[in-house]
Order: sequence, then structure tokens, then C-alpha cells
Amino acid sequence: MCGIVAVTGYRKALPLLVEGLEKLEYRGYDSAGIAVIDSDNKKLVCHKAEGKLKNLKHKLDKKIISGSLGIGHTRWATHGKPVLRNAHPHCDWTKQVAVVQNGIIENYFELKTKLESEGIVFTSETDTEVIPHLIQKELNNLSNLNLENSGSTLLIAVRNVISDLEGAYALAVIWSGSPDSLVVARKQAPLIIGLGEGEFVCASDTPAITNITNTILPMEDDEMALLTPLGIEIYNSENERQYRNPISLRLSEQIVDKKHFKHYMLKEIYDQPQIAKNWIKQFLRNDESSLTSINYPFDIQFLKNIDQIQILACGTSRHAALVGSYLLEQYAGIPTNVFYASEFRYSPPPLSPNILTIGVTQSGETADTLAALNMEIKRRQSSGKESYKPNLIAITNRLDSSISRLVPNIIDISAGIEIGVAATKTFFGQLLSFYGLAITFAQIRKSKTHEEIDKMISNLIKIPPILEDLIISHNKISEELAHNFSNMKDVIFLGRGINYPIALEGALKLKEISYIHAAGYPAGEMKHGPIALLEKKVPVISIATPGNVFEKVISNAQEAKARDSYLVGIAPECEGTEIFDYLIPLPLIDEWISPLLTVVPMQLLSYHIAAHRGLDVDQPRNLAKSVTVE
Ligand code: G6P
Repeated sequence: MCGIVAVTGYRKALPLLVEGLEKLEYRGYDSAGIAVIDSDNKKLVCHKAEGKLKNLKHKLDKKIISGSLGIGHTRWATHGKPVLRNAHPHCDWTKQVAVVQNGIIENYFELKTKLESEGIVFTSETDTEVIPHLIQKELNNLSNLNLENSGSTLLIAVRNVISDLEGAYALAVIWSGSPDSLVVARKQAPLIIGLGEGEFVCASDTPAITNITNTILPMEDDEMALLTPLGIEIYNSENERQYRNPISLRLSEQIVDKKHFKHYMLKEIYDQPQIAKNWIKQFLRNDESSLTSINYPFDIQFLKNIDQIQILACGTSRHAALVGSYLLEQYAGIPTNVFYASEFRYSPPPLSPNILTIGVTQSGETADTLAALNMEIKRRQSSGKESYKPNLIAITNRLDSSISRLVPNIIDISAGIEIGVAATKTFFGQLLSFYGLAITFAQIRKSKTHEEIDKMISNLIKIPPILEDLIISHNKISEELAHNFSNMKDVIFLGRGINYPIALEGALKLKEISYIHAAGYPAGEMKHGPIALLEKKVPVISIATPGNVFEKVISNAQEAKARDSYLVGIAPECEGTEIFDYLIPLPLIDEWISPLLTVVPMQLLSYHIAAHRGLDVDQPRNLAKSVTVE
């Protein structure tokens, strides 16, 4: 999704901006641009290009732009097509003010109509363009006051303008009248300030600033800040100056290294065994005397009163939540529901007292998930009933994100920054967190015996080496199998029980990066509709792990075979699996932990099909890593 980087200091801004934008490319975008105040003539210079950043770099090639104040942006279209005129930065009619913005200005149409009636001509279809025009108007008004400090003038102008804006946004503003002042503001969209030496940077995501500093100050909602080479001033919505200590980025948030892999996605699939090792070290404990075997960074006493769980998430995180709900209900015995965060917000179930709400989001910034959690917190608080506590947990990969500020109890999956837009290792990390929660609830509710819990724990401890071998062998197999799939138009994924969400995830991965239509179904549901699609050119990928529903899945696969579909099985080499035309073999493992392995061939197969088709695996079209608009 849109990315912001902005800098003020002593070095040339242009290369710093371009480097920052490169680090934001992974978020997904369709155009890019920069604006710098040229220190030679104090004029605003703005360059933009459609498509990838390389097009912008090509335009900037051999251009000498001095000036150490600038803003940059990668745009993911919301208002207006992904074309040059809609790319950011946007300037006012006098070309003195430039603005980059993430998010959506909901009342832009009304503001635009008013500005147009005053004779201002718009050059884009974006919601953002109203902002520079409004700021310029404010600057004109403020010029009568003859304020001494031009930075403060810009700050006041921006403050006056944002009081009229509705929606969720993060923005950065520069003005040629104040050639070293950068003004930034945040409302429900991420923005962090990086503290360098003699320079300050502001960005929508940490990778964009690590070339300058590892010391950050995340901005809070409704805050704005003035950044100059001499320092920063942060203000809240009441215009009170805010003081707080900066924090250091963890090493895992600083390293964005593809190693020897062709794509980040493949590297991130290979990262998974290490994530399992880290999780075992961090979360499993040997302390017999404690309430549970899982180590949480917060007091879990409140979980004792919980008798129901609701999980809110989007996309891949929702699929992890579905595996989680299976574990929480079937293993730990606690009723659990999973909601699309975007649906929950507008049609929540009736309030019930002892419910735990879990938000799952790798980025910690997904607008729908944040809004749904916010709504739930508010409605519980305003219910007036003491018993309706907002019992909350969030599972995220980004401790520095908005969800970490919204939710008091955070389970950090510590998977390291994920660059591939299609989530892989963060999904895996989310699954592990749900295993931890299921064990905790099974212990609290005594729904499993000591022996059963020990068995689950020892099975989880065995995962890393099994996974290492599996990834190596499945990588080869998937590369080979990908050739058979590159001309397919539809693929069906089947799973049952705990592996049904893995079938959904397999279909989502394939759609996301290979643009092949795919759908996941509970295997037993295939005969109620999807079977009509089956023929030679519609392959069926079935997950069949020995356990509760193995024979059933094999029978469902027979039904597909009878319709001439090419059958791929993700299953151990055992009786029944000879039915598959192609077998991606699994080791014999306990069904409870099988999703941690069955997801791997899903990830690798999608990866190789997309790579074989020559597609941009890490940055698939139209998708964004962090979806900060509703
Ligand atoms: C976007 C990404 C998906 C991701 C979803 C939820 O759509 O492209 O890969 O699953 O957002 O993201 P979250 O950060 O909330 O897990």
C-alpha cells in the first residue's frame, strides 16, 4: 500500500528518498514520486512516474537536485487510476507546497467542490490534492500575521487544515517558504519519526529509515510534528507539546536481506524452521510450577474467566485464525468464532460477557482489523456493564505497529520483516501462536491431560528439523510440478478439519501471485457445487493427513478422479494415497500439528508456478503488504 518517506537534514535529500522508497517497494504500489526544495533557488522540484520505482529513477537520472528537505511516495491507487497525474506528491496551484499522503480523506469531494468554486483548478482525481491547496490558502491567511518562524507558520497552516479533514491518513508536507521544515501528521495510519545525527526522517514503515537511523519515535494518533535539522517538536490534538523517549529498532526489523534466493518469498519460506526454533525457545517453558507451559509477556490471569473467543482478521491472517479456532475448540474445548474484520465492524454478534477478542495481523496496520478491534473495545466500554471487559490479545509481527498501541496484550511472532507481499513465514508464526494459546487454554480448562499436553509440546519441538528437510525436498518437487500448472486457469484445493483452512490458504497463495483462479473447499462440500467445474483441465489438490478424516478426504478425491481431474495429493505414502496422480509426500505426523507442514507445499507450489510464469512474485499486481485503507 502507499508508502511515505520524508527527510530533513544536511545531506542531499534525493538519494535518501530514493533509497527509502526502494525499501518500501515491498508494500505494493503503482506509481512513485518525490519533491525536494532546491537549495539553490528555494523552489519546489517535483518528479513522478507511473509504474515501478525504476521508471522514476530513470527520470531522475543525471538530474542534479540539491536540497536537503524532501518527501517521497509510493502510491497504491484508491481515488483515481494509477496514472502519472494521480501520483504523489501533489502540489498547490502556486507550486510552493507539496504533500504526500497515505489513507483516505473521506470529505475530499466537499472540500474539492468548494475550492473549485473559488477558482482553483485541480490536476488530479485524488483525494490528496485538496490538502496542498488548503494549506496554501492558510499560508496566505497567516502571511498577514507576519509570523517570524516559517516552520511554525507551516505547522499552524497544516494544523488548521487537518482540523477540517475527515478520514484516516498520514501525511508529510514541505513548503518552499520554509526550506528546512518538514511537517507530518498522523490519524489512524502509521507514521514513525527516525532520529539521525543532524537529520530527521519520517516514514510509514521502518525499513524506509534504516539507511539513516535505528532510533525511532512512533507517532501516536492525532499527533503532528515539525522536523528541522535542529530537532523535532511533537504536538497532540490539543496542541500540547509531547515528550517521550525514543526506542531502538530490533535487529530483525533492520535486516532486509534476500541472501542467495531469487525472491524474498522463497527466502521467507526457508526462514520458517528458524522461526519455529525461536518460538520454541521463547515461548515453551520448563517451569512445572507455572499456570501454563507457554511463556507470555503479559499476565494471563484474565484468561481464567474466558468462556468464549472471537478472532478478527483479514486475508492470510484469517486463515491462521481458522486453524487457531479449530485448535481452540477441538483441542482446548473453548467455543471460538472467526470473523472477517471488515464484516465484524458493521455486523458484530451481540455482546457477551466473558469473551476474549483476538486480533491477528502480521503488519499490525490493517485498517479493517484495527477498526473492528476499536469498535469492539468501544462498544464493550460503553455497554455500562462491569462484566463486559475488553479482554484483548493481538498476534502480530510488528511490535512497533498501531495494533501494539491499541491492544495491551501482544503476542509477538518475531518472524522478522516479511518482504514478500504474499504472507508465508508470518502465517507460520501466527499458527505457532495459536498452538501456544490452545495449550494454555487446555491447561486452564483442564480439557486435556498432562500427558496429552506433553505430547503436543514434544510434537511441536520436533517440528524444526522435519520442516527443514521438507522444505528442501518439496522445493524440488514443486519446481517440477509447476510446469504442469502454468497453463491452468482454475485449481481447486480440498482439505478437511484442521487442514481445511490450509486448503483456503493454498488457493489464496496461488491467486495472489500466479493470477490463476483458485478456490479452497472443505472436501466434503465439493459435491455440492464445485464438482460441476471438474474436468481434465481443472486440477484438484487434496490435503490428506492420517487422522480423523483421512478416509473421507480420500473418498472425496475419488469423486474428483472420476471426473477426470488431475489429482495432486499432499499426503504420506500410505494405503489410499495411490489414488493421486502426483503425490507430494509428507512424513507421518500427528494430525494436530499437520498444518505446520501441509502449508509448505502450498507456499512452494504457488511460488514456483508464479516464478515459472515470469511474474513479479514479491510484488504481485494490485496487492499491498499493509492495507491501511478500509
Ligand atoms: C493484505 C495482504 C495479505 C494479508 C492481508 C492481511 O491483503 O496482501 O497477504 O494477508 O493484507 O494483512 P495483515 O497485516 O492484517 O495480516
